[in-house]
Amino acid sequence: MIPWEFLGEAKVPGGGTLRLTKRNDEFSIRTDGYELMNSRAHGSEEVLAVEALKRLAGRSDCRILVGGLGMGFTLRATLDHAGENAAVTVAELVPEVVEWNRHHYGHLAGHPLKDERTSVFVGDVGEAIKKEAPWDAILLDVDNGPDGLTRSGNDSLYSKTGILSAKQNLRPGGILGVWSAHADPMFTKRLSHCGLAVEEVHVKARLKRGGMHTLWFAVKTTIEGIS
Ligand SMILES: C[S@@+](CC[C@H](N)C(=O)[O-])C[C@H]1O[C@@H](n2cnc3c(N)ncnc32)[C@H](O)[C@@H]1O
Repeated sequence: MIPWEFLGEAKVPGGGTLRLTKRNDEFSIRTDGYELMNSRAHGSEEVLAVEALKRLAGRSDCRILVGGLGMGFTLRATLDHAGENAAVTVAELVPEVVEWNRHHYGHLAGHPLKDERTSVFVGDVGEAIKKEAPWDAILLDVDNGPDGLTRSGNDSLYSKTGILSAKQNLRPGGILGVWSAHADPMFTKRLSHCGLAVEEVHVKARLKRGGMHTLWFAVKTTIEGIS
């Protein structure tokens, strides 16, 4: 058995510790013993972007917020399916994750930080949602899902207040896409109660095998908030 090589460690502001390791061409990021990301499992992270952008009906100049960066697969899929005039901001809470992408594993997702349409917001995606609005799409994959794991502060993103903030900062017709490792009927209801048109989709964890992950696509159909 080939041992894992330790590459780095980072504190999550308001949360635990991220630990980056490598074995051959496989990268893993663990948080307090649990594997948060593995470079071999990224199918559903890509589907989050592909399906959200499909629902934006091919606009080429979209403003898209991706939170967080992780290994960059959602960002890569966003860049691949957004138009050439799109502007894509990736919000990442942990500065070391941005450095790891630049220095260790950017190649895994075709170096998405080098794309000239990409800009990086180092900080909480909840802040980015408000600071750099309006958005055509907000894609959230910052944790295990609405039930959290890495950081209790992330719960607010999935709360009624967090959903209404996302809604307010979306353009009419804009979409909030959310990734989760598990189904969460209460979250589905919350999206709907906040006045968004919700679709819940279950996708394979990996492109070919593995368990199921849950994605939500919630569209702002009204013209309230930012236009
Ligand atoms: C599961 S990973 C994302 C995986 C990513 N979708 C991919 O394709 O590789 C979660 C990422 O979100 C970051 N994160 C956690 N909470 C955050 C927050 N509140 N704002 C921004 N980034 C956050 C973590 O540091 C981690 O890099």
